[in-house]
Amino acid sequence: MFSTLRPKIDTLLANPAGTTDDKLQTICDLLKDTVPYYDWVGFYFKNGDKDELKLGPYAGAPTDHVIIPFGKGICGQVAVSDQNFVVPDVQAQDNYIACSISVKAEIVVPLFVNGVNIGQIDIDSDTPDPFTEADERFLEFVNERVAKLMTQG
Ligand code: SME
Repeated sequence: MFSTLRPKIDTLLANPAGTTDDKLQTICDLLKDTVPYYDWVGFYFKNGDKDELKLGPYAGAPTDHVIIPFGKGICGQVAVSDQNFVVPDVQAQDNYIACSISVKAEIVVPLFVNGVNIGQIDIDSDTPDPFTEADERFLEFVNERVAKLMTQG
């Protein structure tokens, strides 16, 4: 599954047409539609010079959590830790922001541009404990490619 998704990501990012947000939206839709346990896929980015994240393109149910302060929830923790955060069971987390009661697990992988953590990809799953290292490596790949796009302008 990830081996067929990687070249698709490269192809869609190489397309000169469309804005960066259009391409991020296509990635969200592609991932949500292809990976059976990806039920919500979105990008959050640092909101200007504020210590908060702002929701970017996403696929799945609308969320109330458009702005997330640094340190709050899984996303806010990744904004300050610079580390992947894999949550097999969201109920077991104290510092967690619930978006939907159907969500069982979450993975957040930071997105670095020139070594700076500027945002993240966030996946929610309605399946308990679905994420493996293969998800982490794949989502790191996605973020590396998106970072390349952003540095190219
Ligand atoms: N659950 C996240 C909030 C964002 S939603 O999953 C879309 C968190 O705890 O940071």
